[in-house]
Amino acid sequence: MKILLTGGAGYIGSHTAVALHEAGFEPVVLDDFSNSHPAVMDRLARLTGRPVALERGSVLDTEWLEGVLRRHAPAAVVHFAGVKAVGESVAQPLKYFRINIEGAISLLRAMESVHLGPQPPGPPMLVFSGSATVYGDPARMPITEDFPLSHTNPYAHSKRVIEEMLQAVCLAQPLWRVGVLRYFNPVGAHPSGLIGEDPAGIPNNLMPYVAQVAVGRRPSLTVFGNDYPTPDGTGQRDYIHVQDLAEGHVAALRALLAGTGSFTVNLGTGRPSSVLEVVRAFEQASGRPVPVQIGPRRPGDIARCWADPSLAERLLGWKARLGLEAMCADAWRWQSGNPQGYAD
Ligand code: UD1
Repeated sequence: MKILLTGGAGYIGSHTAVALHEAGFEPVVLDDFSNSHPAVMDRLARLTGRPVALERGSVLDTEWLEGVLRRHAPAAVVHFAGVKAVGESVAQPLKYFRINIEGAISLLRAMESVHLGPQPPGPPMLVFSGSATVYGDPARMPITEDFPLSHTNPYAHSKRVIEEMLQAVCLAQPLWRVGVLRYFNPVGAHPSGLIGEDPAGIPNNLMPYVAQVAVGRRPSLTVFGNDYPTPDGTGQRDYIHVQDLAEGHVAALRALLAGTGSFTVNLGTGRPSSVLEVVRAFEQASGRPVPVQIGPRRPGDIARCWADPSLAERLLGWKARLGLEAMCADAWRWQSGNPQGYAD
């Protein structure tokens, strides 16, 4: 059974492709490599023991997407493709609305014309890469799915609009089956060290930055504020191993295929870690020092953010298994084996 992964060569997409293969599905990667590396495809072939089908192009091209859907007739689509840098989204909002929102519309239209037209291959089924960023700055922890939504930047706004569009589509046309997965903070890498996160330029996110400091690519980490109302003053997040996240997609697809109606769930561990706890865990896992300096808060950051992941367990039978130690050990194996990422 084929599953089409838009953005399948990216960080979360590539790990999900391997997990799907291991679960007996046949992943088909669709990517334009605008924020991923073609070398991923060789790594995927090594991990799965066979070439993984690739469709190279943009989700913005609706007609081409229709052709891809007709050619492969995938049972479902997982929509990862999009842009995700918060700071860039503030500077270039239209880029975010175009690629994320227009991209989603383009995919939905292509799926609609193939699945709701004559001789449909089956009902339209979609898993969407959502984000905990749609909760804004919640008043209490842990976060459940019924918390009010808000946004403080165009990236978050785009994720929220897409969720709302998906709801409207499901309401209008009940044949659709849609699973929205709100990711908390994905980190780590495949335990083989063959695939991992390879951000272009200076990493925005904590774990890849820490990994680059440990490997000697950068001198030190700047901690964005140590005066938050948290136990050690630094921000607390719900880091989730990308392998657990990938399994979350497999569980979501199984649920949709089994006829579960549409759903929206948090994918997190339910356990918060502070910036300094991540640094210490990474030093332990790597055996390398990670020098830190304390800087000012980063604009837009919140003090605390962690999930109540119990709905995903109830609905999908999915639960995160891996802790911070495994996240750091696997991120380190990837980083030390590929100091320059896929360019190595
Ligand atoms: C960020 C995005 C979020 C997105 C998520 C994707 C922002 C404000 N939020 O979440 O919308 O969904 O990435 O993974 O960018 N930190 C440092 N020094 C650094 C980098 C980070 O101290 O060099 C701290 C941050 O202040 C925060 C924690 O580490 O407390 C995690 O930061 P990050 O990895 O960027 O994730 P989020 O900000 O939670």
